[in-house]
Amino acid sequence: MRIDVVTIFPEYLAPLELSLIGKARSQGLLDVRVRDLREHTHDRHRTVDDTPYGGGAGLLMKPEPWGEALDAVIDDAPEGVEGGPVLLVPSPVGEVFTQAVATELAAEPWLVFACGRYEGIDSRVVEHYAQRVRVREVSLGDYVLNGGEVAVLVVVEAVARLLTGVVGNAASLAEESHSAEHDGLLEHPAYTKPASWRGLDVPAVLSSGHHGQVERWRRDEALRRTARRRPDLVLALDPAVCDRADLAVLAAEGFAPDRGVGDDHRFIATPPAVAD
Ligand code: 6GU
Repeated sequence: MRIDVVTIFPEYLAPLELSLIGKARSQGLLDVRVRDLREHTHDRHRTVDDTPYGGGAGLLMKPEPWGEALDAVIDDAPEGVEGGPVLLVPSPVGEVFTQAVATELAAEPWLVFACGRYEGIDSRVVEHYAQRVRVREVSLGDYVLNGGEVAVLVVVEAVARLLTGVVGNAASLAEESHSAEHDGLLEHPAYTKPASWRGLDVPAVLSSGHHGQVERWRRDEALRRTARRRPDLVLALDPAVCDRADLAVLAAEGFAPDRGVGDDHRFIATPPAVAD
């Protein structure tokens, strides 16, 4: 996979040299190229920002350096790539970056990241490139960062570890939190030796050697943990993937399948009855 990153802070992307990503790069699985936006300015001060039309606090990134930089990147297509890149623009107004988005991006041969700073990039840049390539504005979540560089580190790490050969054990990917294989649930708690530590014992069922009971315990714990910490994920769960034991755990946590019309069945929260 080829990844281009355009930024005014190339040094911010230094962590991409480390650990699994660095190894994937030296093995030739990933070709990461970080480019300095300011190389596409032409004034003495290498200006990339200006005041917003309509007024307001803060500065915006000017469109011209972005146009030049992104044209140069797009014109430099990797060998054999036909459909152009996916242009990713990290932004707090983007779609939320999830494991499902990471999985889609991992199937692409070429990703280009445009890192905004200040109050973002002149909106015409996304409008223009959306006419030429596939553009996705992506957000890490509901909080504000100073720029897109940290989001690039997050997205590249989440995507690269899905590429064949980057993470050693392919089965470990399927077992993780948020994986489709686990119905988008949080992962169950996990333990290693010693069996007793500071008065805390590993649940006995995990040493029972009874595979069926272990799997049932893990599923129950995953459901309970998800219900308590991330009720939004339970509401997104398809009741069709739940067996009777699942439904019993969820009922005890206050969730029941909705008996609505049509086949769009989902869970609903069932608040505990209040004594009067
Ligand atoms: Cl991707 N960028 C910025 N600047 N802020 C964010 C974000 C991205 N995701 C959440 N907040």
